Amino acid sequence: MTDIAPGLEEVRTRTFPFPARHFLSVGDLERDEVEALLDLAEGFVALNRQKAKKLDLMKGRTLVNLFFEASTRTQSSFELAGKRLGADVVNMSPRASSISKGETLIDTAVTLNAMQPDILVVRHSASGAASLLSQKVTCQVINAGDGQHEHPSQALLDSLSLRRAFGRIEGLTVAICGDVLHSRVARSNVIMLTLMGARVRLVGPPTLMPAGVDRWGVEVFYDMRKGVAGADVVMMLRLQLERMQGALVPSTREYNRLFGLDREKLGLAAPHVRVMHPGPMNRGVEIDSDVADDLAVSLIQNQVEMGVAARMAVLASMAARLDND
Ligand code: NCD
Repeated sequence: MTDIAPGLEEVRTRTFPFPARHFLSVGDLERDEVEALLDLAEGFVALNRQKAKKLDLMKGRTLVNLFFEASTRTQSSFELAGKRLGADVVNMSPRASSISKGETLIDTAVTLNAMQPDILVVRHSASGAASLLSQKVTCQVINAGDGQHEHPSQALLDSLSLRRAFGRIEGLTVAICGDVLHSRVARSNVIMLTLMGARVRLVGPPTLMPAGVDRWGVEVFYDMRKGVAGADVVMMLRLQLERMQGALVPSTREYNRLFGLDREKLGLAAPHVRVMHPGPMNRGVEIDSDVADDLAVSLIQNQVEMGVAARMAVLASMAARLDND
């Protein structure tokens, strides 16, 4: 790897106070602020690849991960990010806490708040949950996914991964494909990628497109082959069967035939195309394994690595804001 890990002093000087008190939506950031967070994250990518990964930018701070929905990547990367910055990290999982006894979101948050955490990272199945919570607690809140609404740190890590792969985001054609309706990843990425100057396409069956998508300022395709034609990036979304009430897709086999990413459909994209997926993947449904695992085209593992660095950038700058208060 050519990256040289910056020294602690360099990371310190690059760190700036987060522009907002909370990180609830990509809309909390301007374009130059996203660029600055990505620059900061670059330093953490290099740091994370060396043996000694630990800094003290969050020394004395407490980070609480409050996840009401299952998570592997997001929760563990916030945990690692907090620990690598020197914070104390507590993970609250529904089964082991009073959440399973019917304690409400607000009760749980107010209880945790009384323990004086500095940052609360929250994931919840209701859209707007993180925002509601931010009004009830005195600590800073990071939205790690609220229902179908937003997942801003995912968009940041995706932009980091893209900027490293292509050297830029401006001018890239990014086709976001699949279950757009249920995807907070899609919403946050549409906002961030558009902000950064990419051309965004949404691709999927009409039953999995949100109402009013024509007002999102993106191109919409109901035919996967047309949607990926010439694209620089194909970002696949998980078919979120757990959020579907009725039958929005005929069968997973039929869905795979029409909207699953395989070699044949990928062949229609630009020759240098890169494939993304936020995980967890339904292999053989929205994406075929030989595409997902082909390191020449797939950025999927890279996205996971970038997740830790991007979250370190968010946490370090949120802590810098706390230090300034
Ligand atoms: C996504 C999520 O939970 O919103 N996953 C993730 O954060 N890595 C997408 C998904 O669940 O499909």
